Amino acid sequence: MIGNEEIEMKLHKGTLIMVAIILLLAGAGCADKVEEIEDSRLGLSKTGVYATPDPVLAGISAGEPGENDTVDAYFSAAPPMIPHLIEDFLPIRIGENMCIECHDIPDSIGSERAAGDPTPMPASHYTDLRNDPGNMTGQVIGARFTCVQCHAQQSDAEPLVANTYRQ
Ligand code: HEC
Ligand code: HEC
Repeated sequence: MIGNEEIEMKLHKGTLIMVAIILLLAGAGCADKVEEIEDSRLGLSKTGVYATPDPVLAGISAGEPGENDTVDAYFSAAPPMIPHLIEDFLPIRIGENMCIECHDIPDSIGSERAAGDPTPMPASHYTDLRNDPGNMTGQVIGARFTCVQCHAQQSDAEPLVANTYRQ
């Protein structure tokens, strides 16, 4: 008679041998294929994962509105960068949108902008492109209300990766 314990022992031994064989085969298969990569080569930050780097803060060298050159758009339909300081105009609220205060000058669309003047918002910002395209209203359309959703401030940050994109 074989006792239950003895059967269990035999099963255990069998399992252990199987596992050992699988591990051996797996080890033999990949031992020479694994190439170690230094953690400092893994991401955009050229430091190890345990380092506590001190990143350079990106600066904004812009002046108050009226003092800055506009920035060339990267491609024709790109939202132009904001070339001036905006801290005093944020956050944008339902009843308080300083950007509109200055840039809502539809009568000036198409005319030459004098130095120091705000650029008028384009006709697209007064047109409900989804429901009523072609009809320029006198009101800024809700979808354009939160200007900073599309327009970003120009900063002096060094690009992490060189951008070779051309129009
Ligand atoms: C006090 C008036 C004023 C306010 C408020 C203001 N702007 Fe301006 N904005 C200007 C002027 C003036 C320029 C022209 C560039 C310059 O001189 O800074 C300009 C330029 C821009 C441009 C560049 C347009 C182009 O021709 O390339 C964008 C985009 C812009 N502003 C977005 C905004 C947004 C978004 C806000 C709100 C967060 C805002 N502006 C608030 C006056 C203003
Ligand atoms: C959904 C994205 C989006 C939002 C929101 C938005 N814009 Fe624009 N804006 C654009 C794009 C894209 C352009 C350039 C293409 C065009 O003419 O429509 C542009 C162009 C402009 C220009 C330059 C016009 C010119 O003649 O060069 C100004 C100024 C401007 N926007 C101001 C604003 C202001 C102020 C707000 C908030 C009230 C705002 N935008 C909200 C996408 C947006």
